Amino acid sequence: MAAIIASMLAGCSTGGTGGIRAIEAFQPLPIPPLAESQLDDQGRRVFDLDVRETTTDFGEGEVAGTWGANGTYLAPTIRAERGETVVVNVANNTAQTTTLHWHGMHVPAHMDGGPHSMVDPGTTWSPTWTIDQPASTLWFHPHPHGRTGEQIYRGLAGLFLVDDPAADPGGLPDEYGVDDIPLIVQDKAFTPDGRLDYTAGSTTAVGFVGDTLVANGAIGAYLDVGRERVRLRILNASTARVYDFAMADGRPFQVIASDGGLLAEPVQVESVQLSPAERAEIVVEVQPGATTALVSRTPDLGARVDAARIFGSGTFEVLQIRAAQRLEPSDPLPATTAQIPAADRAAAEHSRSFVLGGRVINGRLMDMGRIDEVVPVGRSEVWTVTNQSSQPHNFHVHDGQFRVLSVDGSPPSQLLSGWKDTVYVAPTTSVDILVRFETYTDPRFPYMYHCHLQLHEDQGMMGQFVVVEPGTDASEVSAPDQGHSASR
Ligand code: C2O
Ligand code: CU
Ligand code: CU
Repeated sequence: MAAIIASMLAGCSTGGTGGIRAIEAFQPLPIPPLAESQLDDQGRRVFDLDVRETTTDFGEGEVAGTWGANGTYLAPTIRAERGETVVVNVANNTAQTTTLHWHGMHVPAHMDGGPHSMVDPGTTWSPTWTIDQPASTLWFHPHPHGRTGEQIYRGLAGLFLVDDPAADPGGLPDEYGVDDIPLIVQDKAFTPDGRLDYTAGSTTAVGFVGDTLVANGAIGAYLDVGRERVRLRILNASTARVYDFAMADGRPFQVIASDGGLLAEPVQVESVQLSPAERAEIVVEVQPGATTALVSRTPDLGARVDAARIFGSGTFEVLQIRAAQRLEPSDPLPATTAQIPAADRAAAEHSRSFVLGGRVINGRLMDMGRIDEVVPVGRSEVWTVTNQSSQPHNFHVHDGQFRVLSVDGSPPSQLLSGWKDTVYVAPTTSVDILVRFETYTDPRFPYMYHCHLQLHEDQGMMGQFVVVEPGTDASEVSAPDQGHSASR
């Protein structure tokens, strides 16, 4: 079925329909290696990322110019435990200035890797922080103002897995690369001579939309599974595409985690929708000898958006799942997976409003020299995010995780009830989130909030906030000297 729909779209150029083409040749899903690390003399876990401009053969006829860390495309998976202090040596061996941002991480502002933390070509930046948040699937990617989308598209992105053994509910598939599988999902377009094309479809309202699905850098990926249950840690690392992940045969599966950690309990669904930068961890049960597939259906972007017009209609394969004839048993999933505090609106001492326009937030484009919001540390606040435009947007906040209080006044779905750092906001809807920034203050170094559709972000749909000690005087608040109004 997917093949039929996709072949109907084959021959259309990208950007017209937005559909994903069918693939006939399959290859094993590459598993990003776990990044090596050493403990230094202070007991800190040290990782080295060598960021390069290189080439990758996607099997499209020619090698494509790509970016990668410690490899030619994507980055190794960084993995560390709650309580550990990490150091990441980010060596920029490309010819362009870049940054690496720790998306979803609770981290001091000057370690966050936002657009003020530029790493010049030939230099190394070594942020360090102590991990203090629940077990989760976070990620890292470049964040240079105006060029984030293309650098991620070229391949600079990786997963950052946080472990928290003290809160491990037990029973979850957890052998990396065996039954605990990272899955970085992107759409690409290739020029006739096999190079990555970032211009195709970039005139759509949401930005670049490709016609080729790439999973962990592979076109037409399959996964051999040898156990009854497999956990997929899905990251939507696409520029603009929204996915509605489902199983090809419609069978239900369990969602166990959202952006920032495990849900309170596994939630059984038939699909889970992810906009750019969102993550979900799902557990799929397989049958001996059977092949199935993780697919994506046309997403629901709200009543005012024709998602099929932007992304194509119908279903396409994301990952084939091939189960062995004989499967090793898996533990049953635990009934309870995490203790998540109630999201208590009454605990909020302050509220703010963020109105999303076509490319602006509260009427303004990003200005590197302007601090938009000053937030006292440790204070709960309700942020009301309203999409007043006719275009799809999402909303991402740096420095950790928030909770969704309501969507258009109604309580959030179970899938939105855990820790989130990015949330979809449909046109003419309003999402209330509960935020609280802990531990780190710096009146002179901002964090970002922004739409994570990368064209929008790069066009300036972003604002800056500082987290300060209560009572900090406005005169102490400023943006870093290096930051000046970006030209556009
Ligand atoms: Cu995924 Cu501001 O970042
Ligand atoms: Cu982020
Ligand atoms: Cu947007």
